[in-house]
Formats: sequence, C-alpha cells, structure tokens
Amino acid sequence: MNAQFDSKAAQLRQVARELVAPGKGILAADESTGTIAKRLDSVGVESTEENRRRYREILFTTPGAEEFISGVILFDETLRQSTRSGTPFPEHLKSLGVIPGIKVDAGAKELAGHPGEKVTEGLDGLRDRLSEYVDLGAQFAKWRAVITIDTANGMPSEFCLDANAHALARYAALCQEAGLVPIVEPEVLMDGDNSIEVCEAVTARALNKVFNALYEHGVLLEGILLKPNMVIAGKKADRQAAAQEVAEATVRCLKRHVPAAVPGIVFLSGGQSDELATEHLNLMNRLGPHPWELSFSYGRALQAPALKAWAGKEEQAEAAQKAFYHRARCNSAARSGDWSE
Ligand code: 13P
Repeated sequence: MNAQFDSKAAQLRQVARELVAPGKGILAADESTGTIAKRLDSVGVESTEENRRRYREILFTTPGAEEFISGVILFDETLRQSTRSGTPFPEHLKSLGVIPGIKVDAGAKELAGHPGEKVTEGLDGLRDRLSEYVDLGAQFAKWRAVITIDTANGMPSEFCLDANAHALARYAALCQEAGLVPIVEPEVLMDGDNSIEVCEAVTARALNKVFNALYEHGVLLEGILLKPNMVIAGKKADRQAAAQEVAEATVRCLKRHVPAAVPGIVFLSGGQSDELATEHLNLMNRLGPHPWELSFSYGRALQAPALKAWAGKEEQAEAAQKAFYHRARCNSAARSGDWSE
C-alpha cells in the first residue's frame, strides 16, 4: 500500500493534525492490565474491572479537560467499557470532541538470542483487530517499542533496533490501511546510569532506523505522529542534565532525525516527575518555531497526582479531577512555551 495515493490519506492527515492542535495533547490511559494493577496497587486499590473502569471514568469526565486534551489512548478493555450512565467511553469522548485511540501492541517481549533486549509483539492478526477497533470508534492507534541502554553489554544492538523499527513500520502501514493514524513510539528507556550524551546517540540511531523502515513500508509521514523519549540522562546517572540541556539536546536530535513532513511529536514522560515533564516541554517549545508541533502524550505525568488524590475513595473523585485538570492545563500552556509555575 502507498497511502499517498489512498483515499484515506486526507482523513489521516486531518486526524493527525487535530491530535496536535494548538494548546492540546494526548492523554495516555492505555496501561495494560498488568501495568494498571501496579499503578492502582501503589495507592492501595485492588485492580478489579470496576475499579479500572471507575478510575478511567474519573479522568474522562473531568469537567473542562477537553480544552487541553485532543485524544485519549485506551486499552482494549477500556474501549469496550462505558460511563456509569451507560455511554461507551469512545462515544462519550467523541461527544466532548476528544478523539479515541487504542493501544494495539501486545507488549514488549524478550528478543530471542539477545538476552536483555526486547521486541514488541502483536503483528499476527493485527489487520483484523484494527478493523474491529475502527468499528468500536478508534481513530488512532499506538505501538510502543522498548529500547534498553546498556553500553557495557553492547545494548542496544543493531539487530534490536532493526527488529523494533521493522515491527513499528509494519504496524504503521497496517494502521494507515485501516484508516487509523499510527502513533509510532520507539521508547529509549531512561532507567539506566547512562549520560545524556549516550541517550542522544542511541535515540538518534533508533529514530534513523524507524524513519528508514517507515519509508521502506510506504508509510505516509503526514498521517503519523511520533512518540519519542526526551533526550535525558538515565535515572541512575551520576550527573542529571539541567532542564535547558534536555530541551536543547532533544530538539537537536529530533531536527536531525525526524522529517518535517511529520505533523507532530508527542512525548512520553517515561518516569519523569509530572512537573519536570511539563518544564521540559515548555523549554522545547520556547526554542521554536519547529518544523513539527511539539506536544505531549503523557501517561504518568498527567495521571500521577490524580491517582494519588483518588486512591479509590469515591469522595475524592472531585479532587482527583482537579489534579488531572491542573496537569492538563499546565501541559497545554507548555505547548506554546507559556507555562510558568
Ligand atoms: P508515560 O508518559 O507514563 O511514559 O506513558 C506514556 C506511554 O503511553 C508509554 O507507552
């Protein structure tokens, strides 16, 4: 397929642009059953289907958040759940002008023959799953590849980067065929003790491979969004780079490796604190104008204060919504470099 000549191209371009509309970004609420269990457990809440539903409902019904949130990435279970009043979540979001999305990968698994490295699974049967997701109301999708830095042990290997780039490109081509905007997420993890310089070099290699693969697979760049990590020192590094340094290194790396045809870059927060994730985005936008929109697709950095405020207590639902609203508003301001707090 070459989407450039496909009748769906105009729709893909439009949805991609809407997702990075000025002042708006994406809420990643697509934690898999295992990940959401960990998040709920951290505030003493049991991961039942109803608790998962209620928690997501609190986020999705936050009054006014649609001013700052263009789209929400859902997990398979959530896409099929409804509000208390019985409106399916995708329908509820659409009624607010928020675009429903869906995580379609099946998780990062051990890469055979490469101990310590991972490849994301989920391509088998993907075409049929995408068609069902379109029927359920999804308009965009997400696939996350995970890259580990461990230079002493030769990681990431070229093979790991190639395998993940190939899977991302096959996923992206299938999404565009189905009329879904693919969010292409090659996440270089920030868990190690590496310097910011090493992160920049690895991110550059990963992005290069990804865009080569997207080109080879005929993916329409105007109809995707890139979801990268920021260029940042590993959490265990001796020296943590200053926020301005992170902003400059990230923008430099993206300018070198992301074609201007891509309409938007929506960062993951990757374990940064909520405030730091906002500050970094704000500083990057102050370095603009850029060839692409620089926005957010945060999970933890948008949700953490809300999850903590709720902690499973119904009487705290409003406090949780206030906390979520606040983070959404801060990140919206950071879209134009206007955040100050
Ligand atoms: P974090 O912002 O918590 O990294 O989550 C974003 C995401 O969707 C990772 O795939």
